[in-house]
Amino acid sequence: MVNETNEVDAPRVLRVALLGCGTVGAQVARTMLTQREDLAAKSGCELDLVGVAVHDAGRPRPGIPDELLTDDPEALVADGGADIVIELIGGIDPPRRLVLSAIDRGASVVTANKALLAKHGEEIYAAAEREGVDIYYEAAVAGAIPIVRPLRESLVGDQILTIMGIVNGTTNYILDKMTTEHQDFATALATAQRLGFAEADPTADIEGFDAASKAAILASLAYHSTVRIDDVYREGITGVTSEDIEAAESMGCVIRLLAIARLDEAGRIEVRVHPATVAREHPLAMVQGANNAIFVEAANAGRLMFMGPGAGGSPTASAVTGDLVTVARNRLRGVENPAHSVYQGLPVAPMSETRTRYHLRFQVVDQPGVLAAAAGLLAGNRVSIHSVHQHAPRADDRPTGTAVLSMVTHLAREADVMACIAELERTGYVHGQVRFMRAEGL
Ligand SMILES: NC(=O)c1ccc[n+]([C@@H]2O[C@H](COP(=O)([O-])OP(=O)(O)OC[C@H]3O[C@@H](n4cnc5c(N)ncnc54)[C@H](OP(=O)(O)O)[C@@H]3O)[C@@H](O)[C@H]2O)c1
Repeated sequence: MVNETNEVDAPRVLRVALLGCGTVGAQVARTMLTQREDLAAKSGCELDLVGVAVHDAGRPRPGIPDELLTDDPEALVADGGADIVIELIGGIDPPRRLVLSAIDRGASVVTANKALLAKHGEEIYAAAEREGVDIYYEAAVAGAIPIVRPLRESLVGDQILTIMGIVNGTTNYILDKMTTEHQDFATALATAQRLGFAEADPTADIEGFDAASKAAILASLAYHSTVRIDDVYREGITGVTSEDIEAAESMGCVIRLLAIARLDEAGRIEVRVHPATVAREHPLAMVQGANNAIFVEAANAGRLMFMGPGAGGSPTASAVTGDLVTVARNRLRGVENPAHSVYQGLPVAPMSETRTRYHLRFQVVDQPGVLAAAAGLLAGNRVSIHSVHQHAPRADDRPTGTAVLSMVTHLAREADVMACIAELERTGYVHGQVRFMRAEGL
């Protein structure tokens, strides 16, 4: 769009193709159609919605003219002459094919597809760089909350020390219900499904896959390195019991599913998703219901907290529309954002070498010397204890003549703590399993 005299021939209209018209896409389409003038004024040109690809083009879609609908997304991308393609279908294929095809045709892309970027980001960012087009994806992490752009632009001159976030609303809703209403996991999940906070198939959320995709994207942005979903250590919340919630409460803590990315002392990226004990005073402990929040600690900026709705049609469409306007402005000026910076190329640390604090809970024979023996066993594995609490087992727990030891460690290596747990379970004085929860912000 830059002419021979180096002036930009600003088009008066940019053509936009929308792929997907579900929860998010329908809201984006309606915003584009009802706020045309406002978006044009903000962008500097008309944004003309030239087509909307769906699976079932026969289904009525209130507010969206039938003539825009097509069930052939490939043809819309190939023949629609779109300057900007918004991908809101979700999943890996056909979105990967469609996004690459749009880029090959010189279109800029806006997407909310975390699964696609966490798996094939490298290929997509490289294609965008090669073709000199934009790829924007604010909505892929934490819906309406601006976090991609702050990491990509506002904080790019700083050094990110830690990112710790609640990036999945479904699991936060379930853990919150388990805490505040003392529901067990199955009841809380059923409540979430009934109220539309969880899918009929909740696997991606409750097993942590969704949060792991977002963790990969955040780690990649923060540390200018390639981090894929397969690099992310992942544990969901299906194993969290009412007893775990009670034990956390008794220590003045709550349990949250956290996505964590930080640099370790060896300059590697720690990137993990798992339930964690969080002190009630920590800003992340205060995030209730299906909200999301991301806590960022940077060398110069200090501690920042981003919070708000992490999903839903309107909130997510807000982020998508923001990207659309930004991409349109860039095209008018004949510039594009650098696609993706991986200049640091840092390795990802194995989970076994992660260092954090741990809360261990186990039932022991109530005899003199047991506490000292357990403490000695931990010390022998380089794990030092920050605090110990002993109490009687719950009335319905067997056998009698036992006590529950609850220990919080200082920072310790994951492999050392796992070795302690295996050894403790082999001793004669520990009954049953050792429960453990990683602890953050204590
Ligand atoms: N929902 C949220 O709150 C949220 C939040 C953040 C990010 N996201 C991301 O946003 C994206 C869209 O999510 P969503 O919740 O809006 O999904 P959705 O409600 O399931 O909508 C998907 C849309 O894609 C269409 N579609 C499916 N397969 C297609 C195909 N082969 N060809 C053409 N169209 C096809 C569907 O058509 P029909 O309408 O005919 O079925 C539907 O319109 C996903 O990447 C998701 O991860 C969603």
